[in-house]
Amino acid sequence: MLYAAVTSIVFVQIFRIAYGESSADPCLAGNHDNITSMGFRHVTNKDCSLNRVTDYRLVRAWYYAGPDPILTSPPDQLCRCGANFPIWMNGSLPHPQDGIVSRDTCLKYSTICDTRFGIQVKNCGTFYVYKLPPTREDHTAYCFGTFDCGDPNDKINLDSDVVLGEFRSIQYNSTGVDSHATVYCLPGHGVVDGTETYESFPLTCTSGLKWHSTRTCKSLQDCGDPNDLKNHDASVKLGDFHNITYTTSSTDSHATVYCSEGHGFQDNSIKYDSFLLTCKDNGWQSSRTCGPFETAAMVG
Ligand SMILES: *[C@@H]1O[C@H](CO)[C@@H](O)[C@H](O)[C@H]1NC(C)=O
Ligand SMILES: *[C@@H]1O[C@H](CO)[C@@H](O)[C@H](O)[C@H]1NC(C)=O
Ligand SMILES: *[C@@H]1O[C@H](CO)[C@@H](O)[C@H](O)[C@H]1NC(C)=O
Ligand SMILES: *[C@@H]1O[C@H](CO)[C@@H](O)[C@H](O)[C@H]1NC(C)=O
Repeated sequence: MLYAAVTSIVFVQIFRIAYGESSADPCLAGNHDNITSMGFRHVTNKDCSLNRVTDYRLVRAWYYAGPDPILTSPPDQLCRCGANFPIWMNGSLPHPQDGIVSRDTCLKYSTICDTRFGIQVKNCGTFYVYKLPPTREDHTAYCFGTFDCGDPNDKINLDSDVVLGEFRSIQYNSTGVDSHATVYCLPGHGVVDGTETYESFPLTCTSGLKWHSTRTCKSLQDCGDPNDLKNHDASVKLGDFHNITYTTSSTDSHATVYCSEGHGFQDNSIKYDSFLLTCKDNGWQSSRTCGPFETAAMVG
């Protein structure tokens, strides 16, 4: 009799695990709860003063947490999502066809991933549900919202002062703060940095959640040898110079004009014996001229 009762309980448990649990789709209303303090859990909420949100005593269950998905990159600071120590998910959000997936969470504490434990996630098409255990410490909470720069191919995600110029593609692996994307310039275009020319340059995802760079893919037209005065812009007047040195002659590169003995230019009474030419719009440009240095007698 007792034996029969025990086996039937065991059977019921097995039945629940095999059929009951799997048919209880957590996406369906009634199979998930709204998480507590939903309105305070967004990553942009920087107010943790009231310790309003803590998941230390959360009941392990399936939760809906609003339209924004759980954070998939570490927040920039502590005190986000209404808690002193926000928890984010280290991994990608599932697609609807993936069903219920397991993921690791990370607690942002002394590092971006201090304590880790598992949760489950399901994509219900227009929202996500999460099976969340209570956290291991007080003042810690699951964090929701986006904390990345998004697709750098979407102009809206670029800082307003970014000018990409003539590029063929932007490649990236991640979109979290501090990650880098690479802008590949069109053939014949690139970035000149000092004496080097690059066919690509990085964009960086800033904590303002925009991609940033001060670089631009420019046409790599060649100004030619700056010693050949034909290659100078018509406005350039070199004056009395000794020599011109250069390493590259593509757009944005510089050549140095060394003035003759006793010659140079003065800027706020500081004397310079050389100045730079810059290759722009297919010609070397500068507004400076090697003139005779004024003597003390002339000044006085
Ligand atoms: C859960 O929250 C949503 C709003 O985000 C609300 O429409 C819904 O009624 C809530 N459900 C329960 C059971 O409180
Ligand atoms: C996230 O998970 C991956 C794979 O398990 C791991 O290699 C990586 O170090 C984790 N990230 C952090 C910040 O711990
Ligand atoms: C993406 O990852 C690959 C493989 O690790 C690497 O070669 C490539 O440079 C990365 N791309 C960017 C834009 O960081
Ligand atoms: C150009 O002139 C400067 C100043 O007279 C000198 O220091 C430099 O060595 C010269 N360079 C070349 C390549 O002649």
